[in-house]
Amino acid sequence: MKKIKFIFKNLSLSTKFILYLLFVITLFCFLFSTIIYYFLKNQALEEARREAELLITQIDALGDYVKEELRPSLFRFFKESNIKEDFILEAMSTTHIRTKVMQRFKTKFVDYDYRRVSLKPINPQHLPNDFERKILKNFMQNPEIKRWENIVDFNKDKYLVVIKPIHVERECLVCHGKTKDAPKSLLKIYPRKEDFLWRVGDLMGLEAIYVPLENWLLEIKHIAIITFISGMLTVILLLVTIE
Ligand code: HEC
Repeated sequence: MKKIKFIFKNLSLSTKFILYLLFVITLFCFLFSTIIYYFLKNQALEEARREAELLITQIDALGDYVKEELRPSLFRFFKESNIKEDFILEAMSTTHIRTKVMQRFKTKFVDYDYRRVSLKPINPQHLPNDFERKILKNFMQNPEIKRWENIVDFNKDKYLVVIKPIHVERECLVCHGKTKDAPKSLLKIYPRKEDFLWRVGDLMGLEAIYVPLENWLLEIKHIAIITFISGMLTVILLLVTIE
């Protein structure tokens, strides 16, 4: 430290001035690129939020169509035509249809994910993971929360996760209630030993959309670094030219 002070003392005034200028410029470039980084990150998050909202709205619209039009029509058709069949998984389960559609979506957008899970699922594959269990607990303790959103790390990759609670409605209990009420064909596909004891209004599970952020964040980091380096280079070049 003493040595540095000694060297600095013995420098000419113009060199001291240039060093000081260099320090101020580095600080300025650093601040400027940091501001750019956070500005672009905010923009990217806004964009990811919009993407998540769009995806959820689209997938919910599909689910609502099955719930409100397709499924009742098929139930009516089976009844009126005296057909023995009482359930077609591929056409009557909104969750099955949503999951299958999202699987197709994922063939192009590999890192995106959509999940509908429940603590007592019909399909045993739909149990929540540890992270989703924590969010479910949070929804249980704070029933006023209608939407949870955050940036979450999974295997070192960052995702924007948007989660909504799913509550039991009366019509759900046909399949998600007592075993005796459930369509026989459904029980053949997903046999169960006991009744589900859901009541209307209970928190049954959640739907979650995972939007990958890693590529966006990496790109933004690169832009910030390039801004910093090119800013420094420009000013250094200017200084050299002036000298
Ligand atoms: C006609 C039967 C039927 C009705 C009515 C029904 N579901 Fe389901 N639901 C299913 C089937 C079958 C699955 C499993 C789909 C699969 O993965 O193949 C399922 C799965 C789910 C899941 C994922 C967890 C699990 O149980 O596997 C949720 C959450 C869910 N349904 C919510 C609802 C809600 C909310 C309603 C009412 C608004 C409802 N369902 C009405 C048949 C039904």
